[in-house]
Amino acid sequence: MARTCVNEAGAGAARGAPLARGLAAASLGLLCWMHQAAAADNPALSLPEADQQCLGCHGTEGMKKELPDGGTLSLHVPPEVYAKSVHKANGCGSCHSDIDIKNHPPSHRDIKSLRQYSIDRAQACRQCHDEAFKQYEGSVHAQRVQQGNPVAPVCTGCHGSHSVTPRTAYETCVTCHSAGLDAHRKWLPNARLHQEVVSCAACHAPAAPRMIDLRLYDATAHAWVSEPEGAARFEKLARAADADGNGLDAAELRALLGELNQDKAAPRKTLRGRVELRDNAEAHHLAEKARAVRTCDSCHRAGAEPFRSVTVSVTGPDGRPARYPAQRDVLSAPLAVASLPEFYAVGGTRSRALDLLFVLTLLGGAAVPVGHLSLRLITRKFRKTGSGGGPAGHDR
Ligand code: HEC
Ligand code: HEC
Ligand code: HEC
Ligand code: HEC
Ligand code: HEC
Ligand code: HEC
Ligand code: HEC
Repeated sequence: MARTCVNEAGAGAARGAPLARGLAAASLGLLCWMHQAAAADNPALSLPEADQQCLGCHGTEGMKKELPDGGTLSLHVPPEVYAKSVHKANGCGSCHSDIDIKNHPPSHRDIKSLRQYSIDRAQACRQCHDEAFKQYEGSVHAQRVQQGNPVAPVCTGCHGSHSVTPRTAYETCVTCHSAGLDAHRKWLPNARLHQEVVSCAACHAPAAPRMIDLRLYDATAHAWVSEPEGAARFEKLARAADADGNGLDAAELRALLGELNQDKAAPRKTLRGRVELRDNAEAHHLAEKARAVRTCDSCHRAGAEPFRSVTVSVTGPDGRPARYPAQRDVLSAPLAVASLPEFYAVGGTRSRALDLLFVLTLLGGAAVPVGHLSLRLITRKFRKTGSGGGPAGHDR
């Protein structure tokens, strides 16, 4: 619409006498301005015209279609939701190339069931996200879909179809797996803490390389925080801090954190580590539970694999993280302690609990001569803080 607006103003101004032309241009200019102001309020007005045509019908609330199997397909696409999605610039046709506005409706595809429709439509994602698609195809979810499981997710089961944003898709795991989450308490002490600081895929995509992602954290509110100014500012600050361009070392990290804490009135931000995958596309390669990472020393051991790669990140207001590489010894350097008070450098020098765990796993390996009592002393902290049965069930 905004585009048409400019054209009309130009074309209108080109016709007629100079004064009328000026007035026409001015009033059209005003209309345009009003239109753009309205577009700021209603993002749907900024969509390409072809999409607005589709939404002229599909933006209608309550529009639906009864399917032969008794199901109901909602045909309503909320324009304001779609206009805020990552795909707003793509055009409806990028995923619905089979729809030709010249004869639609009445032409439409035959839909047997909601489920089959979802499975078929998700193929559209493949065109542009080939790598995610390939990884997904090797997953336990794809396998279950093939076996006829009626709820195992296709792409849209985790990301949605018209509401896709960069916001973390991990939030959706919980809607289907709340019972499965409770099951972790049986063998993982402090299961809730682990779920906060280890992404699901870091354990459930066992073949994927991991890393420690240091994220901005508000220690007073105990919450991860986003940066209103987002990626652009962070990247600029990080590049400036990393003068030698070889990744942030401990001193550079501290300088960066100082910059991010310029606003003295705001709550002080620190960094807190989270075990993540190095490549998010591999988050799709979820395996059967029997293959999930469960050995404690995959993480709780000096030099464990996830600790060999470190990034610092902030999340922008749209949920998109901006990441910048850091040197791996920022996790153990004494200078970093001030920057990372929230982070238990697992297997590093500062974590007493985890050093104990390290001792425990060593003892577990050396086993026999250790008395029951001394083991109990060592595990006391875990039994106190653990939300489940303690480390007894851990797989060593
Ligand atoms: C004049 C109103 C109207 C317009 C404009 C319109 N549609 Fe539809 N659309 C319908 C109706 C009615 C149906 C249900 C048809 C049926 O299956 O009975 C439908 C069904 C659909 C479906 C589900 C069925 C299928 O074939 O997959 C999709 C997807 C769809 N439309 C996309 C679009 C897109 C994309 C555009 C713009 C290029 C568009 N529509 C424009 C009225 C409209
Ligand atoms: C990024 C890909 C993508 C884009 C862009 C997209 N769609 Fe869809 N659309 C899908 C998928 C996938 C489905 C199937 C959803 C499901 O699983 O039921 C779908 C389903 C539909 C349906 C059927 C009812 C429903 O909501 O499930 C309609 C109607 C529709 N889309 C219209 C539109 C219109 C209109 C636009 C543009 C404003 C649009 N779509 C843009 C991917 C897309
Ligand atoms: C025509 C190409 C195209 C199709 C088809 C498409 N996408 Fe996208 N997708 C993009 C582009 C381009 C971006 C990045 C947009 C941006 O950077 O703002 C994106 C971004 C995304 C993101 C966010 C990635 C991030 O940075 O966090 C997700 C998730 C996503 N798409 C999922 C899907 C799903 C699910 C489908 C199918 C329903 C789909 N896409 C279909 C082009 C496409
Ligand atoms: C089981 C839930 C789930 C399913 C199913 C799923 N995704 Fe994802 N997707 C995720 C998670 C988790 C991430 C990791 C990023 C995050 O949200 O933190 C992600 C990330 C992405 C990204 C961004 C990747 C990047 O490099 O940053 C794209 C694109 C994407 N998914 C597309 C797809 C497509 C296409 C499909 C279907 C083949 C699909 N997803 C199926 C959960 C899912
Ligand atoms: C729409 C629902 C849904 C969503 C969303 C979903 N899953 Fe699943 N998931 C399933 C179903 C159904 C199964 C198959 C369960 C079975 O076979 O008993 C499954 C299986 C699994 C399994 C294998 C369990 C086993 O018994 O071997 C894991 C691990 C898993 N999902 C992790 C995740 C993660 C991580 C996410 C988020 C990134 C996620 N799921 C999102 C429905 C979902
Ligand atoms: C520290 C590693 C770790 C993390 C983090 C983790 N899991 Fe697991 N998960 C496992 C292991 C190991 C099992 C298998 C336990 C077993 O065999 O009983 C499992 C089992 C499961 C199961 C099957 C439960 C059942 O009914 O037996 C589901 C579903 C699941 N996880 C989903 C998730 C989701 C969703 C997340 C993220 C919120 C997550 N897991 C985080 C390691 C982890
Ligand atoms: C995928 C990596 C990973 C695995 C596997 C893992 N942990 Fe952890 N664990 C962590 C991280 C990261 C933390 C740091 C949490 C924080 O920020 O304080 C942690 C913290 C802990 C803590 C400290 C809790 C506290 O009070 O601060 C204990 C105890 C612990 N883990 C025990 C275990 C045991 C026992 C196992 C095996 C059954 C295990 N972990 C498996 C990553 C892991």
